Amino acid sequence: PEVRVKGRDGTEQVLDAAEGTQLMETLRDSGLGVDGTCGGACSCGTCHVYVSAEWSARLPAKSEDEAMMLEALAEYVPLREGSRLSCQIRLEREVSGIVVEVAPAVE
Ligand code: FES
Repeated sequence: PEVRVKGRDGTEQVLDAAEGTQLMETLRDSGLGVDGTCGGACSCGTCHVYVSAEWSARLPAKSEDEAMMLEALAEYVPLREGSRLSCQIRLEREVSGIVVEVAPAVE
């Protein structure tokens, strides 16, 4: 699947991801400053992205764990409607073309 991503410096890129992987893995491996410190276990918040409104509506709903982690993040970085943890987004063919922006790093 294809991922359209805007980095923290505003640069836009189209990345090619392996099907079935976590979005976090592709972002982490592409030098975008997404650390994925917890390895995709929904417990660090370093993989926070803003999903475009169009795509946000098409993704499966957040789990309770993801929602709680995002709530905790809100203390440090602005949340938006499309805020998601990219480790919780699985890249299947249906999400090819997904548009996301890397959220600010948690200081
Ligand atoms: Fe840690 Fe997503 S990689 S919450």
